[in-house]
Amino acid sequence: MIKVAASILSADFSRLAEEIKRAEKAGVDLIHIDVMDGNFVPNITIGPQVVKDIRKTTELPFDVHLMIKEPLRYIDDFISAGSDMLTVHIETVSKNDIKELKNKLFKKNIKLGISLNPATPLDRITPILKDVDFVLVMTVNPGFGGQKFISWVVPKIKKLRKIYKGIISVDGGINEKNAKSLASIGVDIFACGSYIFNSKDPVKAIKNLKELFRKEF
Ligand code: DX5
Ligand code: ZN
Repeated sequence: MIKVAASILSADFSRLAEEIKRAEKAGVDLIHIDVMDGNFVPNITIGPQVVKDIRKTTELPFDVHLMIKEPLRYIDDFISAGSDMLTVHIETVSKNDIKELKNKLFKKNIKLGISLNPATPLDRITPILKDVDFVLVMTVNPGFGGQKFISWVVPKIKKLRKIYKGIISVDGGINEKNAKSLASIGVDIFACGSYIFNSKDPVKAIKNLKELFRKEF
């Protein structure tokens, strides 16, 4: 089943609870939360306290994307804040860090994801694919919502699909047009921000995406 994750980075932060409810009503499957530290990426967004507070607003799983230089330093805070899926970037962790994270998250029944930037080659993650529950492929350079989808990442996704049976998620610049071809190459989760929140009719936007997946498969 293909899933849609709503990236709240493009939501109105002064009304986060309402925005999450709006996405939930529109039919999204997951809430994607972009955590940025102004260090690994140029932008600063939200921390564990906000995740904890918005946890009360929905039962939907929280897909927390850590774009931070020292993920291990903050992992416990994001676990207790109520994350269901936690993604770290391969550019920020060692093989040993992954082992540690795997053990920690497995005990808490939280899924571990590994993400890679557009320019990071696939062979950086191949040795640890057996240790993670999913791969989040960046299709923009992390830092901001509303960027253009980088199409030269597609061959990397195809290559990954060939060698990896687990869940593949894509993040950045996703819309109705590129989602169709990505679904056809076997992507499982679509993280979308501006496509949903900047849409005049988010219900229709999600419906269109899901319809597209139904038609194709
Ligand atoms: C980018 C974030 C993405 C982003 C997606 O650094 O990780 O999750 O917010 O937003 P759109 O869909 O607008 O590219
Ligand atoms: Zn993200």
